[in-house]
Amino acid sequence: MVNNIAIEKAKTSKIHEVDFDNLSFGSVYTDHMLVCDYKNGEWEAPKIVPYQPITLDPSAKIFHYGQSIFEGMKAYKDEDGKVFLFRPLENFKRLNKSAERLAIPQLPESFFMDGLHALIQLESDWIPTNAGSSLYIRPFIFASGNGFHASPANEYKFIIACAPSGSYFSGKVKVLIEETYSRAANGGVGYAKAGGNYAGQFYPTKLAADKGYQQVIWTDDNAHEYIEEAGAMNVFVRINDTLMTAPTNDRILDGITRKSILDIAKDEGIKTEVRKISVHELVEAAKNGSLKEMFGAGTAAVVSPISGFGYHGEDYTLPELTNSYASMLKKRITDIQYNRAEDKFGWRYPVQ
Ligand code: PLP
Ligand code: COI
Repeated sequence: MVNNIAIEKAKTSKIHEVDFDNLSFGSVYTDHMLVCDYKNGEWEAPKIVPYQPITLDPSAKIFHYGQSIFEGMKAYKDEDGKVFLFRPLENFKRLNKSAERLAIPQLPESFFMDGLHALIQLESDWIPTNAGSSLYIRPFIFASGNGFHASPANEYKFIIACAPSGSYFSGKVKVLIEETYSRAANGGVGYAKAGGNYAGQFYPTKLAADKGYQQVIWTDDNAHEYIEEAGAMNVFVRINDTLMTAPTNDRILDGITRKSILDIAKDEGIKTEVRKISVHELVEAAKNGSLKEMFGAGTAAVVSPISGFGYHGEDYTLPELTNSYASMLKKRITDIQYNRAEDKFGWRYPVQ
């Protein structure tokens, strides 16, 4: 059920200008967006308006102090045209967890869920059906209130924008294990989906790209001894037949794909371990052949196989497997998302 969300419809649609057969990731946007303002100590009723630029005062605090958080989700269409979201309440809860850490006011659940539902219903023609495509959904909140004083703003905007999208990565990803820079520190904002966490990664990621790596694998900020996560993904490692991933902590984003993959792997009878994984262990396993696979997991990236990693000036290449965990797990999670398989965990959320 969608509770009365006011809708101002776009006069014309841009949908016919979009080449749905050649979608990149997140670069064309649908006709409408959801907007909700926080003013005078409360969130005002969300409304749907035509997709449009936002006007802000140059003193808006987002520009100066980076009070900005976001989420990433997808809408999927099945063969019969039915539309689904995947565990949307988890994104809502994480948005408010991020909001708390960035001193942004908590958003009411109904504003998020009803607003999201109404927007996806309205934009359902924009959900691509080509293999690997979906409607990427970007909910975000930022400080729109003014002032150079370094303190939380008194006004915010919550927006949901949508972009029909293809794959995030084309092909396998080669990663560099980071030894100098850190993404996050104990007591910091690493567990929040804060815009600044990504800005801080761009420079080290560019240095890695200059050396031929598409992503950085972040390590603990203390001694760069344990692997944590990649730019926009949690990381999984398969040593022999055990699948492992790092435990979440205040430096790591608690990924919804990560926890779903862990549940599916257990359901498949795969031995899983959530524990610290040292770079030393990874290098040894690569050398002795017990390192079978590595992959990243995230909403945008889904399950992205890692072809190899660089560390300390050496490159380690992973074997090509015919029956990889990555491809099996990707199939199982996308079959649930696209309504091609039974949803035994209750993760699908129909948008009717
Ligand atoms: N880690 C980071 C830093 C991310 O940006 C993302 C993407 O959202 C993830 C992990 C994966 O999280 P999720 O599976 O909830 O999309
Ligand atoms: C997502 O996976 O949805 C993300 O938010 C990653 C993003 C940085 C592209």
